[in-house]
Amino acid sequence: MVIKLKQNVIDILKKLKEKDVEVEASELAKELKIDYIVLMSAVNDLAANNLGGFKENKIDYLYLNDEGLDYLKNGFPFRRLINLILKDGKKEYSVIDLKKLSKFEDEALYRAIQNMKKNRWILTSKAAGEYKVYPDVKEAPSLEIEKFITTFEKKSYHDKSKLSKKEAEQIDALNRRNLLKREKKTQRIVYLTSEGKKIQVSKIEPLAEISNLTSDMLLTGEWERVNLKPFNVSVTGPRLHAGKINPLINIINKIRNIFLSMGFTEIKGPIVESAFFNFDALFQPQDHPAREMHDTFYLNNPKQSKLPQKDRVDAVKATHENGGDCGSLGWEYDWSYDIAKKVILRTHTTATTCRRLAQFYKNKEKPPIKVFSIDKVFRNEKVDRSHLAEFMQVEGIVIDENVTLCDLRGLLTEFYGKMGFPKVITRPGFFPYTEPSLEVSVYSEELGTWLELAGSGIFRPEVTYPWGIKNPTRVLAWGMGLERLAMLMAGREDIRDLYRNPIKWLREVSY
Ligand code: PHE
Repeated sequence: MVIKLKQNVIDILKKLKEKDVEVEASELAKELKIDYIVLMSAVNDLAANNLGGFKENKIDYLYLNDEGLDYLKNGFPFRRLINLILKDGKKEYSVIDLKKLSKFEDEALYRAIQNMKKNRWILTSKAAGEYKVYPDVKEAPSLEIEKFITTFEKKSYHDKSKLSKKEAEQIDALNRRNLLKREKKTQRIVYLTSEGKKIQVSKIEPLAEISNLTSDMLLTGEWERVNLKPFNVSVTGPRLHAGKINPLINIINKIRNIFLSMGFTEIKGPIVESAFFNFDALFQPQDHPAREMHDTFYLNNPKQSKLPQKDRVDAVKATHENGGDCGSLGWEYDWSYDIAKKVILRTHTTATTCRRLAQFYKNKEKPPIKVFSIDKVFRNEKVDRSHLAEFMQVEGIVIDENVTLCDLRGLLTEFYGKMGFPKVITRPGFFPYTEPSLEVSVYSEELGTWLELAGSGIFRPEVTYPWGIKNPTRVLAWGMGLERLAMLMAGREDIRDLYRNPIKWLREVSY
């Protein structure tokens, strides 16, 4: 009958025949550069064909512990000390002298002195009133224990069952000095049977390599005998395109978390908004160019929006016509309810923070109030690589007493820092609803330029008075486009990519 074996089993058989002695399994595995488990499974195959096998041996290994290893490397303390003394060459030493010379701890020094004395390398005396050490030799030959410890250099352990009588004495000596540690192990000794020794390797046929198991193989048990092709674990696998969060959502979440971490609360407001909150309550005159059809989307249905309680609407009306009670002259024109009632798609989320002022008044709230919004706005823009008609803004306000432009700058610097833009500059700007106003730019290390990202300021009295917010309570306000910032962070040059979602990019971005 022809014997069929896996190729690696044949190789191991060959090696064992070459050696012609029993070998310890882990050493054989090391020599063959294969895994211990692979070796033992091959030995099992040999056993199944009655060609070989293994037997177990319980053994007691003796190793040097850390201190023992230190002595092996640097010498015993008494050796180190006598060497220092012989080199130093003085006739007598106090304990303090020896401590200086050796830098040993007290106990180690004491033991080293005792050992040197036992070795008859020194004499000691207390005759002069103080304990003194007198070197008594010109040279100090190696002791047995010193010679023996070097045997651990070649092999890190001694097998307790295999010690000669002399070795056993030295092991005892090391043990008394607490320099050893023990480890019990089970050794597996691999051997060949007489058949295994006899068989000619050339007569054995290698089994074909199989890369797929079939259900038949599993049912018949053949799977245990087949020659399985090993996995190549260094080959890269197929690329997986698992689902992930869209990068824009990731950025939104990051912004949200930053404001939340800074103590802000998120607010939401209607997308379909009244001209009143989008413009009038923000002190934008009713003939302001931004209100025109080519900038703002007006809705036909519903045709009119509801305004808040009449006295507040009239307070806003008054600021436009004559400044109301805030000390301003206003815009000096006749304010129209109808224009204020027009229905639009909000052009900025400042409409939403402005609604928060109305709520503050209505609920008789107390400062401080810190809110933000991340939401959609609409402008009648021609869409191109840097413009969208529907986009998002990140907006916020702080209502508090005695807050200043410095607080506003600090806040925005903190925010952009957390977003990864530590360099922030502010310059004077203009918005109809803030005074003073600041344009905020951040430095992009990647692009090597400053980029203007946000508008901000302190809401004018014309904006805050109708809602009962008067000095020293002020409202810090800011707003910025989300997509510009997102382009910067995602490294996209076309703003439309953020919504077109090119699949190649989405696959590349990290999770
Ligand atoms: N609303 C302004 C814009 O759309 C930004 C802004 C908000 C400016 C708040 C000042 C205060 O650009």
